[in-house]
Amino acid sequence: MIDIHSHILPNIDDGSDNIEKSVEQLRLMEAGGVREVYLTSHYFRGHYHYPRNEYDAKLSELRLKAEQKGLKIKLHSGFEVFIQPGIVEDIKEKNLTLGDSKYVLIESELNGLPTDFYQNVYPLLRAGYKPILAHAERYVSIMKRPTKARELTDRDIYIQTNAGSLLGHYGDKVRHTAWTLVDNGWTHFIASDDHVRTNYQALFEAGNLIEARIDSRTRDLLCKSFPAAIATNDRIPYSYVIVQRSHHHKHKSWLRSLFG
Ligand SMILES: [Fe+2]
Repeated sequence: MIDIHSHILPNIDDGSDNIEKSVEQLRLMEAGGVREVYLTSHYFRGHYHYPRNEYDAKLSELRLKAEQKGLKIKLHSGFEVFIQPGIVEDIKEKNLTLGDSKYVLIESELNGLPTDFYQNVYPLLRAGYKPILAHAERYVSIMKRPTKARELTDRDIYIQTNAGSLLGHYGDKVRHTAWTLVDNGWTHFIASDDHVRTNYQALFEAGNLIEARIDSRTRDLLCKSFPAAIATNDRIPYSYVIVQRSHHHKHKSWLRSLFG
């Protein structure tokens, strides 16, 4: 597995506040089968606003510590960039991408999305970046109308879903929305968004649930193959599968409910 969204890098955002805890979390991840992780600290002008070399120094320190403990898990640089007017300048200047790729993890106001969201994302696309909207299922507008996620992918925005959302950690509405995204192929990545406050089991549990509900191929696409394409900057398809629910699953399609 490859986790593309985490706040495990200590003392830079609202994630880990202790390097020992971070290393312990990395150990649990590795034990459960996570081979690579992107340390996507919040980047938010006016809130989490730091020079790139400050981030890099913390990353080097954590890498060293993890290595000293014998860990093999690969630590990639990354950011979760809050979308604001003009943010593309910071992205260019500080290279706020996932690793050295063109993929950029982005977030916005959860009670939105704001009306100028796409207007502020468009400059990233025009500059050749490949934005991934973090935890799309947690946005009020997407909860109200999940097809909005598909409209975003139609406009070349990838979608990431939190493992915890699929487990109900953010409530029933978010859980329902998250499964709608997975069932319909409107999400490309399942990631932990781990803040080192819990024991890091959500990603493993979510993977098992996806395999049980859909199939192992879908789990592998969302937890392994698509995440793996980031490091090599390979193209990930926006539309990748028509998900067929297994016959064991009781949920009726709307057609079948209409025509029996
Ligand atoms: Fe996050």
